[in-house]
Amino acid sequence: MDLPSTIAIDGPAASGKSTLGALLAKALGYLYFDTGVMYRAVTLAALQNDVDIFDEAAIGQLAEQVRIDVGPASIDDGRDYDVMLDGQDVTWLIRKDTVNDHVSDISIYARVRKAMTEQQRRIAKENKVVMVGRDIGTVVVPDADLKIYLDASVEVRAERRYQEMLERGEPADYEAVLRSLKNRDHIDSSREIAPLKPAEDAIVIQADCLGIQQVLEKAKELVYRV
Ligand code: CDP
Repeated sequence: MDLPSTIAIDGPAASGKSTLGALLAKALGYLYFDTGVMYRAVTLAALQNDVDIFDEAAIGQLAEQVRIDVGPASIDDGRDYDVMLDGQDVTWLIRKDTVNDHVSDISIYARVRKAMTEQQRRIAKENKVVMVGRDIGTVVVPDADLKIYLDASVEVRAERRYQEMLERGEPADYEAVLRSLKNRDHIDSSREIAPLKPAEDAIVIQADCLGIQQVLEKAKELVYRV
């Protein structure tokens, strides 16, 4: 039986796509690629170099220039992979609040999306991959063998993200997390290029009442059914 060699998982922030993607890739022995890290790395590069987030031309140029590498985890500190930005280990830095607050702003720019999409397509062509993002099934690899759209209500997602922050020992405020997710959902879904939405042939998993193991089981059923 031929298993799908390209699996796309899309969905809104904190729906559990990254955890699902990592577990599914591990179970299948596929490469796991979380495309959000690329948009996050460009945002961090802009913040570190004092490039104005709202200067589209400058951010576009930056996105074409920076070198982003994602590879196997080199440190055992809870990470699933290393993210390198021009040789700097930014795996945890790209998760900080200032990046959360601006990543959706830079993700609307056409030049940024083009630069990221080209790299993602190359990776999808060269590997058996579980690729996670917002536009993987709709734009990056519309011919993916299996497309999953993982959804959950914004309140459930905010609660999960809030708990993750507490577990990492970070200061956390549920209302602030909820506001930030709503803002990101709005920008991601209403942008002109590659907005967040399920592909027509995506299978939607509604995860409000499902734990990660249940979601994983559903996804595996889909993989073995294709
Ligand atoms: O982990 P979380 O769901 O919070 O976010 P992420 O997947 O790391 O993505 C961060 C942001 O990058 C999203 O809110 C989008 O604005 C953007 N993004 C995108 O535009 N296209 C993708 N394929 C992946 C992420």
